[in-house]
Amino acid sequence: MAKIIIEGGHRLEGTVRVSGAKNAVLPILAASLLAESGLSQIEDVPDLLDVTHMADTVAALGAYVEKRHGSVRISANTVNSIEPPAQLVRRMRASFVVAGPLLSRFGEAKIALPGGCNIGQRPVDLHIKGFEAMGATTKIENGYVYFRAPRNGLQGARIYLDIPSVGATQNIMMAAALANGQTTIENAAKEPENVDLANYLNKMGARVRGAGTDVIRIDGVSSLSGVSHTVIPDRIEAGTFLIAGAIMGKGVYVDNAVSQHLMSLIAKLEEAGVQIDDEVSGIRVYPALNWRMKGLDLKTHYHPAYPTDLQAVMMAGLATCEGTSAITESVFENRFMHVPELQRMGAQIQLEGRTALIEGVQKLSGTQVRASDLRAGAALVIAGLMAEGETEITGLNHIDRGYDNLVGKFKRLGAKIRRLEIDEEEAEVISERMSS
Ligand code: UD1
Repeated sequence: MAKIIIEGGHRLEGTVRVSGAKNAVLPILAASLLAESGLSQIEDVPDLLDVTHMADTVAALGAYVEKRHGSVRISANTVNSIEPPAQLVRRMRASFVVAGPLLSRFGEAKIALPGGCNIGQRPVDLHIKGFEAMGATTKIENGYVYFRAPRNGLQGARIYLDIPSVGATQNIMMAAALANGQTTIENAAKEPENVDLANYLNKMGARVRGAGTDVIRIDGVSSLSGVSHTVIPDRIEAGTFLIAGAIMGKGVYVDNAVSQHLMSLIAKLEEAGVQIDDEVSGIRVYPALNWRMKGLDLKTHYHPAYPTDLQAVMMAGLATCEGTSAITESVFENRFMHVPELQRMGAQIQLEGRTALIEGVQKLSGTQVRASDLRAGAALVIAGLMAEGETEITGLNHIDRGYDNLVGKFKRLGAKIRRLEIDEEEAEVISERMSS
């Protein structure tokens, strides 16, 4: 186990480079399973627990996987299993996207029902409905979903998604890549990571059109092969540094951040009085007056609206805003687990259903807090950077899932932050102290 210790109040300055996008690289690794021949070489791969899990999942299915220095090479012509190990799938919800590639390439898949961040009910009914529309039969038994394609393979279909689910759009896109005929996904997710996946599939030989819009059309092809691809930058990591720069910076350059992916965040930061300069290869941020943002109203929604993955981090930033703010979470019903932790640090937040009302305070104060999920963990780091005194954060396994070297990157910007390994005894003492 480990903990992060932050001595708050130190201003951030300099350049930070954003890593490749977690949410793009995960489905791209899964899509590599579709290649019957050739080598896939994926570049700008972030060093994350989730990436390790997905790479292990692909390897466990029989693919050759080599990971080194920000790149992954995969040869999938040796894949010989349609059942990813349940312990890997249960640990990470995103592994469910291996279903589409396995089903379309091998005609069947057996996948454990997934786990992942504890941020509310996260069903997979839309994935299943999509496969069924393409002719697959489904059986759910003992915690597993069994998919079987018709004898002559998956058939192109018109699929309307009730919700523009990111994962369901990816799974259906990948299944349709090798199906017979044309598949249309209506009300598709428009996230940039899905556009990156479509670009990767097209390089492999697929025919995907319309990714990034509401309607995606996929004309099935008979085979795909390995290619090289560089993953897009992580807009959530970029957003995390922009928010940190907005409240604690003296001028922070977020290198490799793509402003077109971050329009809603940039608009909200500007509304709060933050100065944002869109430069050639990144975004520069200067803080609001007195490092206090003006209170904001915002609502999370599907892309291009404000992303749910930057809800917790923005809430930490707004804890010291001038006036009041309201944040409504409309994507996940239970994504406020960071609220009690921020309250422990002195934030004035009241929950009313899916809305958090934040009364800005002058300052937060450091204490012991625990990350309950990935983005909640990042929010606590931001709060710790702002707080007076020392903040200790445990639950780092969540942060490690999705932020590549968060501590090192903040340290280079001038934060007084460090990571310490702790033994089980100390972890228990912390846990008891926090629950008393
Ligand atoms: C992805 C992202 C996650 C982000 C989320 C929303 C990855 C690896 N993860 O997760 O970081 O927070 O998008 O932007 O890319 N839903 C259903 N039925 C389904 C599928 C989803 O009801 O079959 C619901 C979910 O419960 C949720 C909403 O749809 O309320 C959006 O979920 P979805 O877009 O599928 O999120 P993920 O792909 O899991």
